[in-house]
Amino acid sequence: MARPTSAAARGLRVLKPSADFQRQARLSGLAAYKRLHAESLRAPDTFWRRMAEEHVVWRKPFHEVLRWKPPHAKWFVGGSLNVAENCLDRHLGTNRENQAAIIFEGEPGDVRTLTYRQLHAEVCRAAHVLENLGVGKGDRVAIYLPMIPEAVVAMLACARLGAIHTVVFGGFSPDSLKDRINGCHAKLLITADGGWRRGKIVELKSAADKALEHTPSVQAVLVVKRTAQAVTMRSGRDIWWTEALAGAPNSHRAKAFGSEHPLFILYTSGSTGKPKGVLHTSAGYLLGAKLSSRYVFDLKDNDRYFCSADIGWITGHSYVVYGLMSNGATVFLYEGAPNQPGPDRFWEMIDRHGLTILYTAPTAIRAFMRWGDEHVLRHRLDSLRLLGSVGEPINPEAWHWYHRLVGKGRCPIVDTWWQTETGSIMITPLPGATPLKPGSATLPFFGVAPRVVDERGREVGPDQDGKLVITRPWPSMLRTLWGDDERYRRTYFGEYGEHPDWYFTGDGARRDKDGYFWIIGRIDDVLNISGHRIGTAEVESALVAHPAVAEAAAVGKPDDLKGQSLVVFVTLKQAAVATDELREQLRAHVAREIGALARPDQVRFAPALPKTRSGKIMRRILKDIAAGKPVVGDVTTMEDVTVIAALQDAC
Ligand code: WTA
Repeated sequence: MARPTSAAARGLRVLKPSADFQRQARLSGLAAYKRLHAESLRAPDTFWRRMAEEHVVWRKPFHEVLRWKPPHAKWFVGGSLNVAENCLDRHLGTNRENQAAIIFEGEPGDVRTLTYRQLHAEVCRAAHVLENLGVGKGDRVAIYLPMIPEAVVAMLACARLGAIHTVVFGGFSPDSLKDRINGCHAKLLITADGGWRRGKIVELKSAADKALEHTPSVQAVLVVKRTAQAVTMRSGRDIWWTEALAGAPNSHRAKAFGSEHPLFILYTSGSTGKPKGVLHTSAGYLLGAKLSSRYVFDLKDNDRYFCSADIGWITGHSYVVYGLMSNGATVFLYEGAPNQPGPDRFWEMIDRHGLTILYTAPTAIRAFMRWGDEHVLRHRLDSLRLLGSVGEPINPEAWHWYHRLVGKGRCPIVDTWWQTETGSIMITPLPGATPLKPGSATLPFFGVAPRVVDERGREVGPDQDGKLVITRPWPSMLRTLWGDDERYRRTYFGEYGEHPDWYFTGDGARRDKDGYFWIIGRIDDVLNISGHRIGTAEVESALVAHPAVAEAAAVGKPDDLKGQSLVVFVTLKQAAVATDELREQLRAHVAREIGALARPDQVRFAPALPKTRSGKIMRRILKDIAAGKPVVGDVTTMEDVTVIAALQDAC
């Protein structure tokens, strides 16, 4: 991946918002943004109080905006609300009631629309079913579903009951599902027989059955019928979703929960083998998701918004469900692959449904580029008015392609930087206000105070590389890691002793002379492959579980398409022989253990791994070797320098 430098240094143009866009925008002109951002930092109490009163439907008002005992924040203390009510009931009796909340298109082409009233009724029915299964406040519910409306219904039904959902991406393996269920002792699992992907069925129920052999906490399983192939239903445990919902009433009295009541846990990769259960709570998260959706996507009543992220990722949580639905937006949901049946599926759907906003990932954009301009050019795309990018740095070449081919030079692009942990968008253009520099996520959102610092926490100068930290709490920040507050402290707030209140993002960045942020990428042991976070330690522990493997090290290699590709270095046990067959076995093994998204692109057999004298694997060296670069930098701490040459020869 090309390292971003400042726009000026690259001779890139700055793109000002067009007069047409500005005329209709919610927020127009840089001065308006600057005024609000300055206020949000100068008088955070007043700012957030006003926003929370205006944007959240409260059952009981809060009496304190923020209680901050680093690293623990409590927002809107004393208030109570129901998050599902904020996403659904508030629209009933308004002109949104009969507007589509979800327009769903399955991969085979089936289309289903649910108005806000219909979605509300479904969620109420599901809430009754969950209640009858003994699910209540604080109980954990795992959701392992394809991108279908029932995924949204399941999440909102949990929120309605004060139950905590943990959505597991459908591409994860039985083992990964099992770990996540056991990590939070989920009582109920909601899954489907399968989902459609590239014309094939992804067998979710049979994968879930394998996980369920080792999940003692799960008492019941609700199964949505989507693909209709035969599946095993275990009596006394498994229940068909449709049958259960059929008899349930379509109204439901929602209870109120405190502002800090947990809303969901979302597992994400960290720098150890064990995924982290990021915990988000109710009011602050909802406000962050709602406010950012409204201003970043410049949402209007007649928008039809398409986010291609799966519900299993934070983007699906904040920018398919909570942020969009609390705004009463119409969300387009697509189940399948972008190249099924052909490479123009997205463009064809955008025209057919008249979609106005597209939010997708650089890795998808680069794939579209590779598939060829003709697939895009065949479609009008004249309904689009705004484009978004998320998940990894977007290289200027992909940015310009997206802008020209998809946006026809007319649509602003919002390159949004944020994380599972931040809950909502943190650094981003506001499309009617912010002049764009391709490749830069531009400026901080309201209330966000980022800084680029060196190892000792000193701010670095313009265009200097450093670590990205956030120096103040914000409403949608994670509250802890489920069951491991110590890890929460250590991972996010332990980086700078003198600043125990600084949140460490794990990303490298630089800031140019105009104050624009350029994100470089992860600087911890987390890889970003096609926008998916994968911990090197997770891959390594999967590999060493294989009987042929003695040691393993996983590193990222720059990749034109995926941002990074996954290269693993493996030393074998004495009895094992390095063959192409074993290489394939190991790739398949990792995919089976973690999920296809973690399948290594390259397996390199090595006689030994480079280590420090204290036995720590020197990943930095492996990264250079994987990239085919000469090994530079200090190797004096290395135990055996001859290993480098051996590794460079290895394949
Ligand atoms: C990366 C996804 C550059 C970053 C919302 C971050 C980005 C990680 C951008 C979080 C962007 C996300 N520009 N890098 N616009 N957006 N990232 O938790 O490294 O899946 O730390 O959240 O993705 O990934 P996560």
